[in-house]
Amino acid sequence: MIAQETIDQIFSAVRIEEVVGDFVTLKRRGVNMIGLCPFHNEKTPSFTVSPVKGIFKCFGCGKAGNAVNFLMEHEHFTYPEALRFLARKYQIEVEEEEVSPGQQEEINERERLFNLNQFAADYFIHTLHTMEEGKAVGLSYLKEREIRDDIIRKFQIGYCPSVWDAFTSHAQKNGYTTDILVESGLTLQKEERYYDRFHSRIIFPIHSASGRIIGFGGRILSADKNRPKYINSPESSIYNKSKSLYGLYFARNAIASHDDCYLVEGYTDVIALHQAGIEQTVASSGTSLTQEQIRLIRRYTTNITILYDGDPAGIKASFRGIDMILEEGMNVRIVLFPDGEDPDSFTRKHHPDEVKAFIANHAENFILFKTHLLLKETAGDPIRKASLIKEIVATIGLIPDGITQSVYVKECAEVMEVPEQILMNEVRKIVRSKLKKGLPATEPTDIIAVAEKTPPQEEFALDPDEYQEKELIRLLLLYGEAEIPITRLHENNQEEVSMIQVADFMVMDLSGDDLHFRNPTLEAVFSVYREGFEQGRIPSRDQFISHADPEISRTAIDLMVTPYELSDNWEKNNIFIETEEKRIKQLVFTAILSFKGKKLDTMIAEKLLEIQTITDPADQAILLQELKNLKQSSMLINKELGRVITR
Ligand code: UTP
Ligand code: MN
Repeated sequence: MIAQETIDQIFSAVRIEEVVGDFVTLKRRGVNMIGLCPFHNEKTPSFTVSPVKGIFKCFGCGKAGNAVNFLMEHEHFTYPEALRFLARKYQIEVEEEEVSPGQQEEINERERLFNLNQFAADYFIHTLHTMEEGKAVGLSYLKEREIRDDIIRKFQIGYCPSVWDAFTSHAQKNGYTTDILVESGLTLQKEERYYDRFHSRIIFPIHSASGRIIGFGGRILSADKNRPKYINSPESSIYNKSKSLYGLYFARNAIASHDDCYLVEGYTDVIALHQAGIEQTVASSGTSLTQEQIRLIRRYTTNITILYDGDPAGIKASFRGIDMILEEGMNVRIVLFPDGEDPDSFTRKHHPDEVKAFIANHAENFILFKTHLLLKETAGDPIRKASLIKEIVATIGLIPDGITQSVYVKECAEVMEVPEQILMNEVRKIVRSKLKKGLPATEPTDIIAVAEKTPPQEEFALDPDEYQEKELIRLLLLYGEAEIPITRLHENNQEEVSMIQVADFMVMDLSGDDLHFRNPTLEAVFSVYREGFEQGRIPSRDQFISHADPEISRTAIDLMVTPYELSDNWEKNNIFIETEEKRIKQLVFTAILSFKGKKLDTMIAEKLLEIQTITDPADQAILLQELKNLKQSSMLINKELGRVITR
């Protein structure tokens, strides 16, 4: 854990133009700098960096953030990785957070394991390239498999000698205890004897996403049927099989730039495809895919293409794993390789361009693939076709996006030759039964209704639900410390004008009605102001720009640089506001009233829905009264709003 002090130090040292400038050519334009946006294709620059505010914003694609966000987006760093990168750049010593002795012990152990793994990898690499046995057995095997030298080096492939304890005794001589050797899994203990887990095997180091060696895979060279072809390091405090993907470290940039991740089965498949220039490839290494692995991939892309060595039984066994990918909201495609070929063997027989073309031409959407495959099996049997429908519908119901669901319903109905409405009803049934049980699920969207809705307008208008919330937070961030005049009416009917800071006013006003934000990030920002209010201070803008939660900093920055809309309205209507103070007050009042009005609208809509489901006339009467009250409040708010805007 990086200490908060270090984080603060990094943020104050960082000059955004220097960080971005390493990746984008920037030109000065007034107080800002501009360049071609690295996140989308453009010919005229709309990517703006503000050295003063410490932020960037692209007016073409909308991406915005601080230096850390930039690195996370551009280099696909995690948050701590971005911080460490900046610390190196600005020569700041990274201080680790004070941790309890127990935590420290754990960190130390992890560090010792990383260190040992690197030591082991160096030994295996050295053995492969310079020792007699390594060269004669290991290297010649890799050559026979046509793995190039540069690829052997890049993937840090090595060889563990056949002498039973060659590595273990080498490590002991270098000060490693048998305890840690056994802990790492590199050494096995049998009674009083210690020997190498990976002896006489080719060694494939397994890297974390940031490139440290967390474990190893080892391939046997003999055709001994009694010994497993591959063995792997056991789980340890640094190696968790279900959370790692072989090759991810070498693939992550390509995955992001191709916006697609190829998933294969084995070590050699990753290596062969990589060698063919198809670098966006990772392997789950024999185990079935886990949710953690899927989320790892989702940091870089929402598209997964599974490359299978086609045997239908094996494919069907993996359907459940693929459903999990859909559940994560990702798109899945499948490529079947010709019978008997895995990606490695296929790649060795074909030119890289042919391999690329093969994948491109054979990638089929998973849901359609599954439909076709199962349909073939049912071949005219109506009962089995019914169960097929159930299965497909269950899969479609997992997709967390209603519109995507509808698209699949349409396509699958066509393939299966059943009316679309039947499939749609089945999907709805499944989704509703899940919702009833309190499980997360999304209903398919009625596409026609969506299409008929008004066309999308501005960025904000795309999400009308949150416009009011965003506007409030935007004003808080921009004018939280500004003072506005508030008129109070005393009991004796005397008016008193006093100045109050915007942040205090908003917190008091909204807390009075116990109003909360629907969007959790906005709520989080607001709660910082609420806390500040209780402690008698107003949070600073910088606190959000450099907030530890990247979601919060991105949102805050985005809001701060959003061009202002209402002012246009004022100009159009010839509304002139004399002073900055009054202008801000106007903005704040409008925002609060709109926010409340929106809340009321939602409550009214919900009430209407509720009324429709109630049949008891007495209950209905109560609900109708409540509805009337809500509508009255809403009217009052709208009236007030009209008054504020035109005053
Ligand atoms: P395969 O048997 O398909 O091997 O196992 P492969 O990748 O084609 O290997 P080569 O080409 O014969 O060298 C696929 C993956 O399953 C895991 C390994 O991760 C392997 O890469 N596996 C396989 C094991 O973990 N243990 C085994 O005994 C076999
Ligand atoms: Mn193979």
